[in-house]
Amino acid sequence: MNEFWIAPSILSADFARLGEEVVNVLNAGADIVHFDVMDNHYVPNLTIGPLVCEALRKHGVTAPIDVHLMVRPVDRIIPDFAKAGASYITFHPEASEHVDRTLQLIKDSGCKTGLVFNPATPLNYLDHVMDKLDMILLMSVNPGFGGQSFIPYVLDKLRETKRRIEASGRNIRLEIDGGVKVDNIREIAAAGADTFVAGSAIFGAGKESDPNRYDTVVRAL
Ligand code: DX5
Ligand code: ZN
Repeated sequence: MNEFWIAPSILSADFARLGEEVVNVLNAGADIVHFDVMDNHYVPNLTIGPLVCEALRKHGVTAPIDVHLMVRPVDRIIPDFAKAGASYITFHPEASEHVDRTLQLIKDSGCKTGLVFNPATPLNYLDHVMDKLDMILLMSVNPGFGGQSFIPYVLDKLRETKRRIEASGRNIRLEIDGGVKVDNIREIAAAGADTFVAGSAIFGAGKESDPNRYDTVVRAL
């Protein structure tokens, strides 16, 4: 599973025209839609929930939707997102009371699983659950906002995570989220990432998404 996926983060899209914005980036070639869920509790911002995910499905979006939960508590929202059409559901292990149980809940809901690590969160949470994972997401900014700068020490963490994935022998996607731009995406790929969240690099803040901007990110890879 080495092919690269680009995952536009709709956090930077124009929410008043969200359906159109998502269709535009998918038509431009995006592989998966990154859907940031923030609760003003686990992170200092408030965004969107299952109703919006369901609305995208009703709008005709068939691409995988990668739901990044930045919420606490985690478990009670998972069945709602599964019903709303989520494909992947990822969560921050320190926001869950019982990491194994939350992973199992996602699987039992019919979705693919993932753990998310903030820049300074150690990888130890991976120790016992690799066989329950479909994705590992490394945050390269502190979560809560788009448009922040990539934190360089996460490159080492990417290399270590890639090593752990290879040692597991499993097909686990390695996603990176935060500050991915045309000028660093190649270095990030070389460190082991195969799935690239890009918000502000693809969607102009408050402006219509521009397929050329998407192409620029892909060409840089
Ligand atoms: C931040 C979110 C990111 C954000 C990335 O907490 O998880 O997905 O949208 O935005 P950029 O690509 O602008 O750093
Ligand atoms: Zn995200």
